[in-house]
Amino acid sequence: MVIAIDGPAGAGKSSVAKALADRLGFTYLDSGAMYRCVALASLEAGVDPDDPIGTSGVASRIAIDLEGPEVRLDGRDVSSEIRTADVTEAASRVSVHPEVRAAMVDRQRVLIAAGRYVAEGRDIGTVVSPDSPLKVFLTASPEIRAERRAAEEGIDPAEVLERISERDERDSSREHGTLIVAGDAVEIDTSNLDLDAVVEQIAVLAGQRGLG
Ligand code: DC
Repeated sequence: MVIAIDGPAGAGKSSVAKALADRLGFTYLDSGAMYRCVALASLEAGVDPDDPIGTSGVASRIAIDLEGPEVRLDGRDVSSEIRTADVTEAASRVSVHPEVRAAMVDRQRVLIAAGRYVAEGRDIGTVVSPDSPLKVFLTASPEIRAERRAAEEGIDPAEVLERISERDERDSSREHGTLIVAGDAVEIDTSNLDLDAVVEQIAVLAGQRGLG
């Protein structure tokens, strides 16, 4: 069973999903980390992130372990490496390919079938788990999202805004796992809300639905 937290980069999904999982005693699942692992493994294998056949081969053969505090790729701790700018860019590219998505969606479904999860991503409520009992779509203005990312990474907000806009465009225009709001999702604009306020709102919704 999964509570789905979808939305664009910088909307606050990771912090919110982690805090909510802690509060409800659920397991946190970072689906983006899976696409990042495919991206890192592809770069390391010399596979072009735009190559659907090469990247789907990588996606099907790598071991990804998200159960512990670290992200492990074939047993190696890659928690920091998957957050570099190169891997972020490559992850956005590999996640366009339907074969890569199908492999990741299968893995995500296996995980969430075996427990109670709060999963964050782009397509959790629409593709991975359309029957999720609680779907939340987090948004924030592009400027605020860029500011948050820039503060995290210690870089120029204008540069981040440009990169975020490109990735948003790719997420929203791809054919599979498109970033769209599920019809039955609750939309929360986090532009002017702090983390606790967002988590509180979702925890109330979860309580009303008998979750947690
Ligand atoms: O959430 P994130 O920035 O860690 O995600 C990395 C990339 O993976 C991002 O470009 C979008 C993609 N992604 C996806 O296509 N579907 C998901 N469920 C999660 C992430």
